[in-house]
Amino acid sequence: MDDFKKSTIYQIYPKSFYDSNGDGIGDIRGIIEKLDYIKSLGVDYIWSTPVFVSPMNDNGYDVADYLNINPLFGTMSDVDDLINEADKRGIGVMMDMVFNHTSTEHEWFKKALCGDEKYMDYYIFKDGSADKPPTNWQSKFGGSAWEYVPKLGKWYLHLFDVTQADLNWENKEVRDELKKVIKFWKDKGVRGFRFDVVNLISKPDRFEDDSEGDGRKFYTDGPRVHEYLKELVADTGIENMVTVGEMSSTSIENCIRYSNPAEKELSMCFNFHHLKIDYKDGNKWEIQEPDYMALKEIFREWQCRMQENDGWNAVFWCNHDQPRIVSRLGSEGKYWKESAKMLAACIHMMRGTPYIYQGEEIGMTNPHFDDIHDYRDVESTNYFKILLDEGKSEDEALEILAARSRDNSRTPMQWDGSAFVGFSESEPWIKVSSNYGDINVLREEGDEDSVLNFYKKLIKLRKEYPAIQDGKIEFIFESQDKVLAYKRIYEDQEITVINNLSESEVELPEEINIQGMKLLLSNYKGDYSEGIKKLRAYESVILLNNKR
Ligand code: NOJ
Repeated sequence: MDDFKKSTIYQIYPKSFYDSNGDGIGDIRGIIEKLDYIKSLGVDYIWSTPVFVSPMNDNGYDVADYLNINPLFGTMSDVDDLINEADKRGIGVMMDMVFNHTSTEHEWFKKALCGDEKYMDYYIFKDGSADKPPTNWQSKFGGSAWEYVPKLGKWYLHLFDVTQADLNWENKEVRDELKKVIKFWKDKGVRGFRFDVVNLISKPDRFEDDSEGDGRKFYTDGPRVHEYLKELVADTGIENMVTVGEMSSTSIENCIRYSNPAEKELSMCFNFHHLKIDYKDGNKWEIQEPDYMALKEIFREWQCRMQENDGWNAVFWCNHDQPRIVSRLGSEGKYWKESAKMLAACIHMMRGTPYIYQGEEIGMTNPHFDDIHDYRDVESTNYFKILLDEGKSEDEALEILAARSRDNSRTPMQWDGSAFVGFSESEPWIKVSSNYGDINVLREEGDEDSVLNFYKKLIKLRKEYPAIQDGKIEFIFESQDKVLAYKRIYEDQEITVINNLSESEVELPEEINIQGMKLLLSNYKGDYSEGIKKLRAYESVILLNNKR
């Protein structure tokens, strides 16, 4: 089933989407109340980040019970209603499966901590003395990836927070338990799954120190990951559902295998290489100017090689872990609207399934928090301390967080210009961004030229043109670092997409003669009949050429 090639997927972070009961925290009924809005975008699926029982140390990515709902978000009957109501509107619900680890509050882990051997084997426990972790691997949230349990005289592995213990996928019983989870949600009527950091599930046979890095080379796209995915998919019968794997520090070779239909693993993969072009020496916590040539090269390589090998990308700029793209690669000032639209066009016309993260479609920006007390995210608060320990001043550390924190994308969805942005009737769990008076859904719905309406047009174009759904991609103007341009070609249909990534006017290496072409969409008003020689600040043009 290839319907995902025509589809656009909308990501919801429930805690920040819409609060239906006035407690300052978004919830499942809040999503139901906003389904007509979601429908109006024209999207086909919603992916909600986890709403399962959880102590919420990592906002739900620390699951304590996969088969029950966190009361903070609602009840199982709310989820049933969400699935039914979404279905009535032709929208499929995708659930987020966090299978690399569980919360340490999960009953499996609690039993393991009591020394129950069956459950100790559900996790990765290693012998050792209290003063020396089994390896020097680092947690993705900072510090050692191992935690010592004195009463067991053993260490357990946690690639993320200390309260997120890695599961032992070598154990068939673990794999079978996780299959039960999939079947449960499948039987409920969900139409797809997103698998959290699923390329980290297979750990090596031997645990050894990493002399060059943080240990990721031993477990990223690990030795049996493809085998495990094939087994999970076959045994749960989800082969024809839409599935996406979140792949941490992955490679094209592996993503081809994960997503090539012949392999019967997943429909598509998220990778993050294009979102590291402003990391200094690959370090998220060191800021540098974006390297646009690198961005173009990464897109070209991933798009072309996945195409040549029948792989499929999930294409995206934003999610709940990433700063807002308009703040990062666009402009928050004079060209806010133009840049938000241009960035959207770059992604939505590519080969792959586009994802929109809540608020992206109205051009939401980073909130620019300048006080550590405004931050809620465990990674941000950990790294604040680490940066200070490394010798940064508080101001420097706050500046880095303001650019890099995951909380940048977690501020409440800006529905209108009222005090709590139409998100809640009371103080939200995290501060709102101060620009809600200008950037909000209500305002943009009433403006034909808004970022919101531009997104709707892009989603509609994908539905109309086979070239966008399934056309071949060819990049053009490759040496011009500020221009991201490509063609999509399907039989006689050719679509040309040209984007100026910069705030300055740029000259095209070669003039585009638009004779015989139709303008499908642009973020500037005006007449292109004379051809296109130059692009204005953040200009984006999409042209159709039907060769008959
Ligand atoms: C990736 C998720 O997107 C992120 O939010 C989470 O913290 C980690 N996986 C760990 O589950």
